[in-house]
Amino acid sequence: MGKKEEILPDREFALELLRILKIPLSVRRHSEKVADKAIEIASKIKKANVDINLIEIGALLHDIGRSKTHGFKHALIGGKILRQRGFSEKLARICETHILGGLDKEDAKNVGLPEKEYLPITLEEKIICLADKHMAGTREVSIQNRFNRWFQKYGRSKILLKSKKRIEKIQKEIEELM
Ligand SMILES: [Fe+2]
Repeated sequence: MGKKEEILPDREFALELLRILKIPLSVRRHSEKVADKAIEIASKIKKANVDINLIEIGALLHDIGRSKTHGFKHALIGGKILRQRGFSEKLARICETHILGGLDKEDAKNVGLPEKEYLPITLEEKIICLADKHMAGTREVSIQNRFNRWFQKYGRSKILLKSKKRIEKIQKEIEELM
């Protein structure tokens, strides 16, 4: 067995875990689509090493915190669930950094989360955050489209405008590695 921080469940185990924790079917389907999209993005990257296995399992489990709440806190809860089960810290971080374009301290405070930075740092974290923005449920959309819908629903709030910029920066960064 590898070191604790390296423990990654396999695909079947991850999907079974989502079922056991009663993650709604719609969220499970969304997670599988995010995994497909994240793998598609990752497989185009030529100028850097990406851990495809981590991408797949991380994407499948990114919304595991939705077993408790669909609010912003699901990101933190997801991280907690994975740590408690002894899984890779990398998986926990993927959960914590996938919301919007990641959250800085100010954003976290605004949405009622502990004032900490939850920004995607590693390439795997960035790819899953981006893939998640491309999947509205199980439907693939452009980043522009995704944010336009959020702008219509919530207004052009500071947090959304900042998030859009961050995601566009991540997208550009990833494209430059292709
Ligand atoms: Fe989520």
